[in-house]
Parts: sequence; C-alpha cells; structure tokens
Amino acid sequence: MTHPAILVFDSGLGGLTVYREVARARPDARFVYAADDAVFPYGRLAPDVLVARVMAVLEERIAAYAPELVVIACHTASTLVLPHLRARFTMPFVGTVPAIKPAAAASRSRRVSVLATPGTVARDYTHELVRAYAGDCDVALVGSTRLASYAETIMAGGAVADTAIAAEIAPCFREDAERRTDTVVLACTHYPLLLDRLERLAPWPVSWIDPAPAIARRVLQLIGDDPVDGAAPGGGTAIFTDGAAITPALEATLAGYGLPLVVRAPLRADEALSQRAAPASV
Ligand code: DGL
Repeated sequence: MTHPAILVFDSGLGGLTVYREVARARPDARFVYAADDAVFPYGRLAPDVLVARVMAVLEERIAAYAPELVVIACHTASTLVLPHLRARFTMPFVGTVPAIKPAAAASRSRRVSVLATPGTVARDYTHELVRAYAGDCDVALVGSTRLASYAETIMAGGAVADTAIAAEIAPCFREDAERRTDTVVLACTHYPLLLDRLERLAPWPVSWIDPAPAIARRVLQLIGDDPVDGAAPGGGTAIFTDGAAITPALEATLAGYGLPLVVRAPLRADEALSQRAAPASV
C-alpha cells in the first residue's frame, strides 16, 4: 500500500513515542496524530466513561480522515476499548498493552515493575498478562497519578522538579537481601518521553521496556514495508480536541516530529453539549 493513512490516537502527547517509531518504519505514510486533550488524563476515568469517550472521539476522527489503520497509542485505552473498536470499525487496530511478556523474558532477578496509570494497573487485562507471562516473577504494579501530566508539562516547555519525578517512580524500586528490581515496563506511552530523567533519577540502573518498536513492527506486519522506498508525504497533522495547552514550544516540537499542521477541533458531540449548557442569550 502506497502512502497509507495512519491515525495514531492517545489522550495527549504520550502517543508521540509510538508515532515516532511507526513514522520511522513507514515514512511515506500520511499521518494523523489525534489527541483527546479535552479529557486528559484518561488514567483517572471509570471504565464505562472511558469506553464511551474513546468511541466518540474515534467515530469523528475516523469519519474525517478515513485511515487505513489505527494505532491506539495508549495503554489505558487499549486494555479496555480494543474489542469495542474492532466490533464497530472495519480497519485494523493496533493496540498498546503492557510489555510484561518481554520484561519477564529479560529479567534476571525475576523482580519486575510495571509503571502505568491507575487505570491500567486496575485492568483485568493487565492482571491476565502477569498471570500468563510473569507467573514466576515478583511483579509490582505501580499506578502513577502524576507522571503523564509531568510529561505533558515538559513537552509544553514547562519544568518539573527531579524530586517530583523521583517520588512517582520510587515504588518501582524494590530490594531485599537477595534481589532487586532489574526491569521496569513503561506501560504508559507518556513515560518514554521522560526516559532521560527516569534513567538519571533511578536509585539503581534497570532496563526500561518501551513497547513502541514492537508496535511499529506490528504495523509493518499489517500494511507491509514502503513499496516505493522512502517517498515522503507532505507532513502529518496533529489534531487536538481542546488545544488550550498548545504552546509555541510544543508546536515546534510537533513540527520536529513531522507534524507541522496543528488543528484544534473540539468534538461535535462536545460542542452540542456545551451549547445546551450555555445560558440563553438575551
Ligand atoms: N498515554 C496514556 C497511556 O498509555 C495515558 C495517559 C493518561 O491519559 O492518563 O496509558
């Protein structure tokens, strides 16, 4: 398939860590990066609310861009919503789920941590992965309430103190006389955006497992390699359901990612709601 349209979806900017690997694998593709920043962070949403929200956003974005493939670059959504999306739409969906299998295969100490949002650590899907692939490991599921927001702040050009990041990752590091954690799964796509800080602030060195390269390989399995070898499209689009937090620094970063066109497009469903809630004009 030449110049396929690929839609990459996340609650915010975390999905860029997946997008950049997919874009490297298929530089000829026409990319739409869709962020639902109006409702970010997803990690705090009740499951039924999250399912309804993701379905509503993708209903509109898929109708607008008609992608040949959709990447759900969000663990919090993928661990819940994929069956609903596959039942509703006909194009292939590639999800992002906690990389517990490769982490368990790589760990020598057999002590592994899964750093995720509170939503992802609560999912049956996540617990099932632990049972299936890491039964002989001591696995800590660590739900961070703040780390994804810290990544958003930094991407927008803001600052986050080392102490704040260190406090979020501290529960991942467990040791006793015999062994200590040697592998941490980055089970939220925002976290690889902080990788240099995580490495620097870790109490001891560990392997950080980022699922993005595996996601890109899966995309290639489904749509194949670039058949015309490197023919580049005009540049992708980043579309936000809110966009209030878009700064010049962030726009420059998005352009650097190959997403020079930034669009603020509230969902029609949200606009209809706010019109109903607005006081009648006199
Ligand atoms: N980037 C998302 C994930 O992979 C979620 C962050 C959030 O919205 O809470 O889980």
